[in-house]
Amino acid sequence: MNLTLKIWRQKNANTKGAMETYKVENISPDSSFLEMLDILNDQLVNEGKEPVAFDHDCREGICGMCSLQINGEPHGPGRGITTCQLHMRKFKDGDTIYIEPFRARAFPVIKDLVVDRSAFDRIQHAGGYISVNTSGNTQDANGIPIEKHKADKAFDAATCIGCGACVAACKNASAMLFTSAKVSQFALLPQGETEATERVMNMVKQMDLEGFGNCTNTGACEIECPKGISLENIARMNREYLKASVK
Ligand code: SF4
Ligand code: FES
Repeated sequence: MNLTLKIWRQKNANTKGAMETYKVENISPDSSFLEMLDILNDQLVNEGKEPVAFDHDCREGICGMCSLQINGEPHGPGRGITTCQLHMRKFKDGDTIYIEPFRARAFPVIKDLVVDRSAFDRIQHAGGYISVNTSGNTQDANGIPIEKHKADKAFDAATCIGCGACVAACKNASAMLFTSAKVSQFALLPQGETEATERVMNMVKQMDLEGFGNCTNTGACEIECPKGISLENIARMNREYLKASVK
């Protein structure tokens, strides 16, 4: 496949960026999107030019690093996949592909296609944990009975990989899907009950402090989420928040 790539280039957080045009040739439809970018970067290095900076780590849909806006969609065409799981067969020979960083005030661009998602880490630090006594008398977690449907829902919420596609898909750059997944994975389990009130209050407060927008129920986040995190989690977080506010 021969392709034209329009890629966002930005030297650093303080400079203005712009789209630049590149050509890649003889790309196998079986190569992954990131492999195609590797080929482009080899080409740029051989020409003595600066390679395109982009985030990646596991390249198997687990770490959530590979956040790219491809043709206007977080993680590009296809549902339930991350950018590293996207293959070039989703495109046609001769296509022009637009590649940009995730756009959100709370995700500032560091360089080219790399954004700073540490706002998500700070939301996690605000309450995305449980306190467990590890002084030798810890209760075996498997000794606490949990209803199967609740365990399944908690597990589904826990599959969020913190990629930020929900924020990039939302016209308000809201982080409600991410935060609600992190609240839900504990709200559904007895282990999460002790700190439930502070957790939801602190995580929502941090989410607002980071500059994410509000949720207006458009559902774009759920559609673009590579892990199928459901809007049901947002409803659960709202209930948890209401409960906590009247305590
Ligand atoms: S909710 Fe989905 S889209 Fe948002 S950070 Fe988690 S995995 Fe990514
Ligand atoms: S590189 Fe880890 S999810 Fe894509």
